[in-house]
Amino acid sequence: MMANLPPSSTRTIPDVSSIPRHVAIIMDGNGRWAKQRFMPRVAGHQRGVEALREVVKACRDLGVGYLTVFAFSSENWRRPAEEVSFLMTLFLKMLEREVEKLHRNDIRLRIIGDRSPFDDKLRQTMREAELLTEKNSALTLTIAANYGGRWDVMHALRTMLKEHPELMQTFTEADVQPYLSMSDAPEPDLFIRTGGEQRISNFMLWQLAYTELYFTDTLWPAFDRGEFEKAIASYQKRERRFGRTSEQLPGEQLTGAQAQGKDYA
Ligand code: IPE
Ligand code: IPE
Ligand code: MG
Repeated sequence: MMANLPPSSTRTIPDVSSIPRHVAIIMDGNGRWAKQRFMPRVAGHQRGVEALREVVKACRDLGVGYLTVFAFSSENWRRPAEEVSFLMTLFLKMLEREVEKLHRNDIRLRIIGDRSPFDDKLRQTMREAELLTEKNSALTLTIAANYGGRWDVMHALRTMLKEHPELMQTFTEADVQPYLSMSDAPEPDLFIRTGGEQRISNFMLWQLAYTELYFTDTLWPAFDRGEFEKAIASYQKRERRFGRTSEQLPGEQLTGAQAQGKDYA
């Protein structure tokens, strides 16, 4: 239906390189980080922004093309009202404060998720930030806000069927793909979750089909460049088979040196 979309991991075998093209992160553990320091939970969210800044820089330096971070899930509305409202204000401030810097560094900013519950000011700031940076190409930073993996799939199906009711009985994965969030990005090669939990929490359910998963106990505000490089080194040791056997893999799979993480040190 739409040309030039990146390949789907379930339909074709994607190219694999030693530096992931797309990293997706669940930035978890802000509240616990603050609690350990006898600070209010929101202080952890504030420090979380610093950690994100550092990881964005690391991605840009290493040549990661896409970084997608989970900032607020469709289930996070269940939190106490003051925390939700603090997070909204922090998001707005972050956009206002950081967008120029992102732009100077050739970073494209995008936001995925259902924006309808956000207030006008936040929605307008999101739009402006996306417009300002839309032509940038060094790195695409995508912030998932009021995002849910199930919402993403349902929204894609609904939009597709609205535009193409004739596909009702016959639609395929390829028909749905263009309507998903991030359809113009390769699927994540590497998923990182900080904070010790080993779950997906309704993040990119569709897109993570063949992603390498990495979990660390490090709490998000303490996740720095060194921690990020550890995750990359772990990724470089993985054998990505996409359903094939080890023997079937082409020679250009990660070489020994790359597998030990020597190529970016
Ligand atoms: C992740 O940190 C940030 C958001 C969900 C907004 P948490 O706030 O979930 O921190 P913990 O998991 O309670 O420590
Ligand atoms: C996932 O973290 C969402 C974000 C990091 C934005 P949560 O802390 O909300 O996840 P659960 O509830 O522990 O699974
Ligand atoms: Mg949490």
